[in-house]
Amino acid sequence: MTDLSAKRILLVIGGGVAAYKTLELIRRLRERGATVRAVLTRAASHFVTPLSLATLTAEKVYEDLFALTDEATIGHIELSRDADLVVIAPATADLLAKMANGLADDLASTLLLATDKKILVAPAMNLRMWLRPATLRNVQTLHADGVLFVGPDVGDMACGEFGPGRMSEPPAILAAIESALAGDTKLALPMVFASPSLGRGPLEGGHVVITSGPTHEPIDPVRYIANRSSGKQGHAIARAARALGADVTLVAGPVAVPDPPGVTTIHVETAREMLNAVEAALPADIFVAAAAVADWRTAEPVNNKIKKGAKGAPTLTLVENPDILATIARRTTTRPTIVVGFAAETEKLLANAAQKLARKSCDMIIANDVSGATGVMGGDRNQVTIMTREGAESWPDLDKDEVANRLMTKLAEMLKGSRS
Ligand code: C5P
Repeated sequence: MTDLSAKRILLVIGGGVAAYKTLELIRRLRERGATVRAVLTRAASHFVTPLSLATLTAEKVYEDLFALTDEATIGHIELSRDADLVVIAPATADLLAKMANGLADDLASTLLLATDKKILVAPAMNLRMWLRPATLRNVQTLHADGVLFVGPDVGDMACGEFGPGRMSEPPAILAAIESALAGDTKLALPMVFASPSLGRGPLEGGHVVITSGPTHEPIDPVRYIANRSSGKQGHAIARAARALGADVTLVAGPVAVPDPPGVTTIHVETAREMLNAVEAALPADIFVAAAAVADWRTAEPVNNKIKKGAKGAPTLTLVENPDILATIARRTTTRPTIVVGFAAETEKLLANAAQKLARKSCDMIIANDVSGATGVMGGDRNQVTIMTREGAESWPDLDKDEVANRLMTKLAEMLKGSRS
């Protein structure tokens, strides 16, 4: 057992169900002789009581930034610095967001901004909150700021879902505290970024290849043919596949959305580059063609900028691009077990989707209405109908992340069924 008798830990407890595990962490720290001072956020006090904390730490528990009696004995600046290490367990999405943005509107966030000590964070939240781009951005910012992370783990959640977001167990947090006190900075990468695989989950050991975004087909060195696809839906599918434990290759056209953490992202511009990248990524268990691939490219690439001139507007001759979805679905070798395409339509949605299912030899078509009024292209929501050879099912209007999670869960079940 490591001796931590000279060590002082300032423990910030956020408002999450996992706060009950923090009591066990305190017990283990105290067994090793460490002094633990606990700071409770207002939300945390709904999960653990100041009385249990005061009993376990044998110290006063701090809750209120404006408690004059506390400020008289030990001010918040002093409290934030009179420690060898600051530990946040559980660290909620809210605490991470506050810390990443330098907010200081309660005692916990003020201490975190005021401290000059190393901070170790044990995140705990629902998997969708953890995988939200906003949270991942905050985590990346904190990591760049030198904040250390332990976890989160992948597993069953209090809310009944399965995925990354569970707070690490007390022994793992204790080991991270010991390493942090010993000056170890290898802890600096949160698991979702550091680990080559999120590990367990229904797609563990499986490879999922996804295309996303538009393609750009050059007209000349400065102009190109493109479309309004943002990549939001395809990237959300990549994150969802990753959350279910898959090894994910994302082939992305030019998009503004960030690369999903833990996913191998290959950046391409044109349809032909996209096809090459997908073929190079095979074999795969599941292929999802979510990209809005340009149907045509100019016949002749022009090496110099086309000049405005007396001859008037140039005539562009277009030729068809390869159909990536159909090419992959018709492969005789290394055809992925499940091939999924999208049917972005502005009319006759279901009839066109059914035709596409057969014409492109795929196993599922996700049909969505992309008429201007729906705001689907570039927006955050999507209303889809899932069509397989067994029939069609319409899903309600959902956030694109929710569509992605439901879709990958369904594909994981189909994959399992195809193997049994
Ligand atoms: O024929 P259409 O473009 O409507 O088909 C849409 C589906 O086919 C989408 O899944 C899209 O990613 C895929 N596709 C493709 N390569 C193309 C055109 C479409 O993979 N050249």
